[in-house]
Amino acid sequence: MRLNSPHINIILKACNKASRSLIRDFGEIEKLQVSSKGPGDFVSSADKRTEKTIIEELQKAHPDYGIITEESGIINKSNVKNRWIVDPIDGTLNFLNGVPHFAISIGYEENNEVKCGVIFDPIKNELFCAEKGGGAFLNNSRIRVSKKNKLKDSLLVTGGPRFSSKIKKNIFLEFLKLSEATHAPIRKFGSAALDIAYVACGRFDGYWQREINYWDIGAGIIILKEAGGFIDFFEKDNNAPLKRNILASNSYIHEELSNLVLKKY
Ligand code: IPD
Ligand code: CA
Ligand code: CA
Repeated sequence: MRLNSPHINIILKACNKASRSLIRDFGEIEKLQVSSKGPGDFVSSADKRTEKTIIEELQKAHPDYGIITEESGIINKSNVKNRWIVDPIDGTLNFLNGVPHFAISIGYEENNEVKCGVIFDPIKNELFCAEKGGGAFLNNSRIRVSKKNKLKDSLLVTGGPRFSSKIKKNIFLEFLKLSEATHAPIRKFGSAALDIAYVACGRFDGYWQREINYWDIGAGIIILKEAGGFIDFFEKDNNAPLKRNILASNSYIHEELSNLVLKKY
């Protein structure tokens, strides 16, 4: 990995520190699966502990920066110019069930534009990172999106809907619509951050999801863009700026994907 800006280095340090205890915690999950109490409480404390470590590291470097976090809300609200976007564990349900597919996601935003970001899968030891103008990397190798240019040949991934979603039916209808347009069955891997990272490195060709939170995808935005992909937020809700409907792709299938997602039945 050849990125070396101060912001990337701060994120990498925070990720590195937080991932050590996260890997240890994941090792404990298996034991907890069989206990009568189950791993639920343990996971929520692992989530909080990871976030705390990350916040401490980020604040050591820039105590005045805003931080958008999943667990602790927004820190230093008045600073909207420089903000970190943090999801300590993206893929919590995988983590909770002992499925080794989750990631730490940290992005840095300046004047409303994500400038750099890191998504780290500590179990597979895969570190995706990017910086505006510097390219996107998976560990030490430069990554690029796939070259597939037809939706029917593409491998798509999505997530949701949440149990509490009020638009569950629409989400399933959308899924059906897209399933009819692609030969390969659509994937659901349970980590939005890794879904985007996988589009960035060409494993998937496109990703879409409604009702996603900004911290799920903050770092992914810059990683995908720097890998040559295209990202779009559709049907924006100005009352809930941290909630997004996202379409992310290798760029070649973007128009087809976007037309279909937006097409009414
Ligand atoms: C979730 C994951 C999942 C997505 C959900 C997210 P969490 O994040 O990214 O893939 O479908 O919408 O909330 O809760 O594991 O951090
Ligand atoms: Ca998340
Ligand atoms: Ca999370």
